[in-house]
Amino acid sequence: MNNPFVTNGYAGEHYFCDRVEETRSLIDLLTNGNNVALISPRRLGKTDLIYHCFDQSEIKDNYYTFLIDIYATSSLQDFVNALGRSIIDALKPFGKKALQRFLDVVASLRPDVTFDVFGMPSLGVSMGSIDKPEVSLDEIFKFLEQADRPCIVAIDEFQQIASYSGNANVEALLRTHIQRCRNANFVFSGSQRHLMDNMFTSPSRPFYQSVTLMNLKPLDLGVYRDFAVGLFNDAGKVLLPEVVDQVYRDFSGVTAYMQRLMNVLFMRTSEGDTCTVDMIDLAINYTLDMASDTYEALLRQIPEKQRNVFIAIAVEGEVENVTGGAFARKYRLPSTSSVNSAIKGLLAKDFITQAKSGGYQVYDKLFALWLRRYIDIK
Ligand SMILES: Nc1ncnc2c1ncn2[C@@H]1O[C@H](COP(=O)(O)OP(=O)(O)OP(=O)(O)O)[C@@H](O)[C@H]1O
Ligand SMILES: [Mg+2]
Repeated sequence: MNNPFVTNGYAGEHYFCDRVEETRSLIDLLTNGNNVALISPRRLGKTDLIYHCFDQSEIKDNYYTFLIDIYATSSLQDFVNALGRSIIDALKPFGKKALQRFLDVVASLRPDVTFDVFGMPSLGVSMGSIDKPEVSLDEIFKFLEQADRPCIVAIDEFQQIASYSGNANVEALLRTHIQRCRNANFVFSGSQRHLMDNMFTSPSRPFYQSVTLMNLKPLDLGVYRDFAVGLFNDAGKVLLPEVVDQVYRDFSGVTAYMQRLMNVLFMRTSEGDTCTVDMIDLAINYTLDMASDTYEALLRQIPEKQRNVFIAIAVEGEVENVTGGAFARKYRLPSTSSVNSAIKGLLAKDFITQAKSGGYQVYDKLFALWLRRYIDIK
């Protein structure tokens, strides 16, 4: 691998920093019959932690593991399709017999299954034809129950099911299946804290008290520092520890941003050279430049009223009291009620997050930096 600082997904033990305790707890919980809700702010490493656990030999060699990302789904139909596809993909390495066992049980999905020239099946992406998703879901759970290995199913961005049409039923339906299923355990991971918390801690919701909550924290600075310095070292480059300290501080220890910056810093340091603190600004500028088109496009997608509030929050850094008149006046926003509704829209789309303290922040710290540098607002 050219660059050991991976910025898109799990690439194996060697490129994965720490999470030793978290990996241990998650595996212990799952292999002892518990379901887990894995919660953290965005980009800290939930999805990679799940992949990392799945990659450990005690899991890999004994379980079937499935991970579905339901961020882009909006109905039970989509959900069933995503789950079906992920099961087929995960079973492929186990050969035709394992796949056939699945296809035998999911009779209702069979019309959507196509085979390639090697006889390998896949499930069509078009969801139109899953006309009885409840039946298909039932069949999928039958498969999980009868599988010749125990199963672990991770449902990433789980908070999304709160916005399905007919949500109450979907949540209850899933809960019933999950509760009955003896041969599978589940990880529900998600980032929208208020949605996730509500699903699992509010007595009126089907998943109330049905899981162990696990809050993922940022990586430890000391451990990440050693990890980064070590990876430079392996490539014959020197990374001064204070570079890591400053990047960690600048990005509040959010894994994705640190990895992105370290990736650029690694690229910009030749073999035999030393990466120093004064290179950080260049790396940030480079990263912002590379992302400019994306940010411009994103910004255009945001309705104007929300956009103005969004930019104002980015400029402020963190806004404690959004509905106090001072914030609206300072950024010439029309009224506190319109600020309020803009905030709702921005939260729903994950553009901003609410910190524990109650203040609002732009969730993507690089996006916020870009806005502060490139958007002209007084
Ligand atoms: N322990 C780790 N060591 C090194 N890189 C990591 C680690 N955990 C995560 N990353 C990297 O950080 C980035 C974000 O990780 P990941 O996608 O798992 O976060 P997430 O919490 O699932 O984010 P989101 O909320 O956006 O789904 C990825 O590029 C990933 O490769
Ligand atoms: Mg994720």
